[in-house]
Amino acid sequence: MSTLIELSNVVFKRPNGSQCADGLNFRLEASQKVSVTGSNGSGKSTLLQLILGLVQNIEGEIKLFGQSCCKEADFAAVRTRLGLVFQDPDDQLFCPTVLEDVCFGPINQGLSRGDAEKLSRQTLTRLGIEHLANEVSYRLSGGQKRLAALATVLVMEPDVLLLDEPTNGLDDKNYQLLIDTINSLDMPLILISHDQQLRNALTDIEYRLENGRLTLVSSRAGDSIIQAVPESVH
Ligand SMILES: Nc1ncnc2c1ncn2[C@@H]1O[C@H](COP(=O)(O)OP(=O)(O)OP(=O)(O)O)[C@@H](O)[C@H]1O
Ligand SMILES: [Mg+2]
Repeated sequence: MSTLIELSNVVFKRPNGSQCADGLNFRLEASQKVSVTGSNGSGKSTLLQLILGLVQNIEGEIKLFGQSCCKEADFAAVRTRLGLVFQDPDDQLFCPTVLEDVCFGPINQGLSRGDAEKLSRQTLTRLGIEHLANEVSYRLSGGQKRLAALATVLVMEPDVLLLDEPTNGLDDKNYQLLIDTINSLDMPLILISHDQQLRNALTDIEYRLENGRLTLVSSRAGDSIIQAVPESVH
């Protein structure tokens, strides 16, 4: 099995003194779907920022797709392969319209405007929000923004999905649509969520982030759930 993401002995402290990583170890293998839970402020969103190289001054090693990443250039080279859906969709949507937001990544990757629009409209259709294409992004409802943010990521066809509380604000129909869409992609993912039902629906390995370290909570093989024995740190 190839390792997509590997964090070894990572140490990172926020300026406010919050020790988000304190000798943190983590691996995501190809085809694995893992979730991370933990208290508010424990560092779950920060963990995704660490993986994307969006924070500085860390100790330890971060390897992405087998390459050790230290400098911004190392992360920049592989960042588009990691599809991060931010906890706050307003961090993801910055163009005047939804279609432009979704087109932004593909155009940046060198696609012509026509091809980017075609791909973007297909992605919007897949998420049932093609009717929002020409809407002003910042005027969307909370749930609509969340789906639009997901579209900006899916359109890039990343190798790994990093989802940070992706269902906050979604109604029942869109909650299920998101689950079905993500499951139909059948791709490796890291899900940050406080929602046990969502973690069960999308992932089969669950970790808890506490005191800057990840502890295995459970892993599933087929229909059986194997609860980790206490103290089992991975
Ligand atoms: N951009 C930032 N700049 C400075 N400190 C930050 C920043 N983002 C988060 N922090 C701090 O880092 C710590 C961890 O925050 P983080 O957002 O990673 O927690 P979380 O586990 O995702 O919480 P939640 O469950 O509420 O989403 C907190 O103390 C927070 O104040
Ligand atoms: Mg968070």
